[in-house]
Amino acid sequence: MRIRPLTPGLDWDQYLDLAMRSFGPVDEPRMRANIEPIVAAGQALGAFDGDRLAGSALYLDMRQWWYGRAVPMAGVAGVQIAPEDRAQGVGRALMTALVDYMAERGYPLSALYPATMTIYRSLGWEIAGHRHVAVLPARSLRTLARPDGKSPDDTDRAGIRRPGPDDAAEVLEVIGRAHENARDCGPVSYDEATVRRSLTRPGRYADKDRYAYLAPDGFLGYHWQHGHDEIVIDQLAAASAQTTRALWGLAASHSSVAETARAAWPRCTRAPRSPRCAGPAWPTAAARPRTPPWTPRSPRPPSCSTPFRRTRRRRCARHRSRAGKFDTNRCSRI
Ligand SMILES: CC(C)(COP(=O)(O)OP(=O)(O)OC[C@H]1O[C@@H](n2cnc3c(N)ncnc32)[C@H](O)[C@@H]1OP(=O)(O)O)[C@@H](O)C(=O)NCCC(=O)NCCS
Repeated sequence: MRIRPLTPGLDWDQYLDLAMRSFGPVDEPRMRANIEPIVAAGQALGAFDGDRLAGSALYLDMRQWWYGRAVPMAGVAGVQIAPEDRAQGVGRALMTALVDYMAERGYPLSALYPATMTIYRSLGWEIAGHRHVAVLPARSLRTLARPDGKSPDDTDRAGIRRPGPDDAAEVLEVIGRAHENARDCGPVSYDEATVRRSLTRPGRYADKDRYAYLAPDGFLGYHWQHGHDEIVIDQLAAASAQTTRALWGLAASHSSVAETARAAWPRCTRAPRSPRCAGPAWPTAAARPRTPPWTPRSPRPPSCSTPFRRTRRRRCARHRSRAGKFDTNRCSRI
């Protein structure tokens, strides 16, 4: 078995066959449009048995926000080994090579969503955060309360427009500013070429159900799911309460058609322990930079509370953190 970078001359039928046998049915044109630039950029490795593609893995050139600072991050995806080659060490050999490959290219950080932990943990990845998903009745977003008790009005939406491919750099700048202001920990953003591909020209949607809105200080990206049953908010980042509300208001306006709205937020865990030294893997809450009081707070995990309803916090002695602070992640309830 030889491991080498995939090149643009790749036998696409083999790749597709491998992907479908690993993850089930795929949308071929969409997958091809996404993978080809990654292969062309030399960001994918393949495990070959002669000319046969037995496995592959790739990384995306991403940034992850750590206390408001963007850190280069290799986002690993598409890890797939042909069923007949599994449990023979091919996955481990491939991922070991990928780790070296990413390190050689200067990435200090890598992240992935693990389908199984064994292989990744043994190669150095550790659980450092979660992707929290909220699924809400779309109509519950219709009446987003303003601090003054009024409904969102048109002035909130001033300056919001639909971005096209040429706005990719501005979209990244706006998203970056929002995460920086909020000292965010966990969210990720993509490189400009990927963002450019996702911002198809209004009216000419190659990726037919992906839409975006851009404000001077905020961005909303969403798509439809299950036909017209669900609106999936892929990304919503804003630096002011007014724009946050306006962008949620835009997504909520689909409630006449969509039953549910789904939104996800990556967040780092609370002071995870490093397996090497048994100490906190990053600074304690007290040592971290404080979020300025005027920025909107990151939404809390949906299992405990949502940003859409006011929660009444009850003190719970059992869930006080060691520092004596109230652990809102575990105790606040709707
Ligand atoms: C997961 C996958 C990549 C592993 O590849 P593989 O070639 O079978 O892995 P290896 O033989 O090199 O095994 C590496 C380690 O992972 C473990 N492992 C492999 N598959 C596993 C599974 N499904 N569940 C739990 N552990 C698993 C092995 O036991 C081995 O651990 P060990 O060395 O301590 O014994 C492969 O099974 C696959 O392609 N699965 C379908 C797609 C998928 O889930 N991709 C991962 C997306 S994050």
